[in-house]
Amino acid sequence: MTYRVADQKDLPALEELALASYGRLKKNLTPENWAKMETLLKSDQTFPLLVRDCHALVCEENGRLLGMAFLVPSGNPTKVYSAETSYIRMVGVHPDAGGKGIAQALTRLCMYRAKETGETMISLHSAEIMYDARHIYEKLGFKKIRLLDEHYGLMYWLYEMKLI
Ligand SMILES: CC(C)(COP(=O)(O)OP(=O)(O)OC[C@H]1O[C@@H](n2cnc3c(N)ncnc32)[C@H](O)[C@@H]1OP(=O)(O)O)[C@@H](O)C(=O)NCCC(=O)NCCS
Repeated sequence: MTYRVADQKDLPALEELALASYGRLKKNLTPENWAKMETLLKSDQTFPLLVRDCHALVCEENGRLLGMAFLVPSGNPTKVYSAETSYIRMVGVHPDAGGKGIAQALTRLCMYRAKETGETMISLHSAEIMYDARHIYEKLGFKKIRLLDEHYGLMYWLYEMKLI
């Protein structure tokens, strides 16, 4: 298994991986909320922009993408994140490769990259049904900061870690 930076050539495989990994959540969502999530995963505003603007990391084995994570640098504020923090988005691992530590390794690589590039804080948000993801983040030292507005009919929390 190798970990590397993604580029535009990876876009079709990233979309496929996103649908396979986040597809696990479908059974916990209403059809309307799954349709919203699917629309986001398939949008040409999602992966093309993440690959262009972020530190985009993938895990690959025999030419097949098994995992992904994106570190957004500080200076890209949203409703959830302030301009001061970097944040991790779209951590996903193919169900065929689950439980092998890929998500944990990708999250750690995002943390190293954030430190390396002088970020002072790294954040992310995660939902109630993302038990394994929240377990990983808490194990790596992220602290649950506050409840966010409901999204896809789910409770989401903001997590943060100071890097200095
Ligand atoms: C969450 C996800 C990225 C995890 O990927 P993964 O590569 O299988 O995860 P890892 O192998 O690195 O780690 C799994 C950890 O979660 C733990 N875990 C698995 N299922 C769990 C559960 N239901 N509750 C608590 N912990 C759980 C494992 O024991 C392991 O922890 P350990 O190292 O302490 O034993 C993957 O399941 C996924 O793509 N899910 C759908 C998308 C998603 O929820 N993304 C997160 C967005 S915030």
